[in-house]
Amino acid sequence: MTVAAIVPAAGRGERLGLGRPKALAVVGGLTLVARAVDGLVAGGVDVVVVAAPPGDEDAVRSALGHRCATVVTGADDRVGSVDAALAALPADTEVVLVHDAARCLCPPDVVRAVVDAVRAGHAAVVPAMAVADTLKRTGPAGEVTATVDRSGLAAVQTPQGFAATTLRAAHDRARARREAGEPPAATDDAGLAEDLGVSVVTVPGDPRAFKVTTPLDLAMAEALVVAGSA
Ligand code: CTP
Ligand code: MG
Repeated sequence: MTVAAIVPAAGRGERLGLGRPKALAVVGGLTLVARAVDGLVAGGVDVVVVAAPPGDEDAVRSALGHRCATVVTGADDRVGSVDAALAALPADTEVVLVHDAARCLCPPDVVRAVVDAVRAGHAAVVPAMAVADTLKRTGPAGEVTATVDRSGLAAVQTPQGFAATTLRAAHDRARARREAGEPPAATDDAGLAEDLGVSVVTVPGDPRAFKVTTPLDLAMAEALVVAGSA
C-alpha cells in the first residue's frame, strides 16, 4: 500500500516577511520544506510531492537536496497548490497526507498516527489540539458579543490524512466550485472533505506541529531545535 504525502510549500510567506518563500526559511541549518519532508518520511510516508511557488521550483529542488521528492508548480491559493500536487501522485496511492511545509517540526509520531487511522478505515483524519485561550465572539468595533464554549472546539493541524479517493473527490468538487465562480467551501483539505459529507475523525495533535507564520514562530522553532526539543 503506497502512502504518499503532498507538501503545500507554494506560499509567499508575507507574514514572515523574509522577502522569499517561507518554505525556504532556515531553522537549525535546514529549510522548513526539507524538515517537513524528513518528518513525513520518518513517519512512514513512501512518496512525497512538494508544491513550490511558481518560479521557485529549482530553489525548492535544491533545498531538498538528496531527498526523494517530486516538485510541482503550486498555485495562487493553498487549495490550488494541493490540487496541482494531487495530479503528480502515483496511481496506486491509497493513503495520502497533506502537510504544510510551514509545520516543519511536526513529530513523526503524529504522522504515524494519522497514517494508521486512515489505514484503519477512516476516510479523513486530522490531528487536533484543545484550545488553550478563552474565546470570545466580537462585533464590528471589536466589542465582545459572547463568550464561546471552548469544550466542543479544537484547533486542527497537519498532516491531514485521507483515503486517496476521498481527497481526489474533495478537490474535484473544489475545482468545480472554483470554475463556477463559487467561493471555496473551506481552506483546509478536511473542510473540503466535510463539504462532500465525509466524516472526519481526530487523532491527538502535538504543540510542535505549530505553523510557522510570523517571525516569533520562526524564533520559537529555532529555539526548540537548538534545545534539542524538536
Ligand atoms: N501554501 C501553498 N500555496 C499557496 C499558499 C500557501 O502551498 N498559494 C502553503 C504554504 O507554503 C504553507 C501552507 O500552505 O506551507 C500554509 O500557508 P500559510 O501559512 O498561509 O503560508 P504562506 O501563504 O506562505 O504565508 P502568508 O499567508 O503569510 O503569505
Ligand atoms: Mg497564506
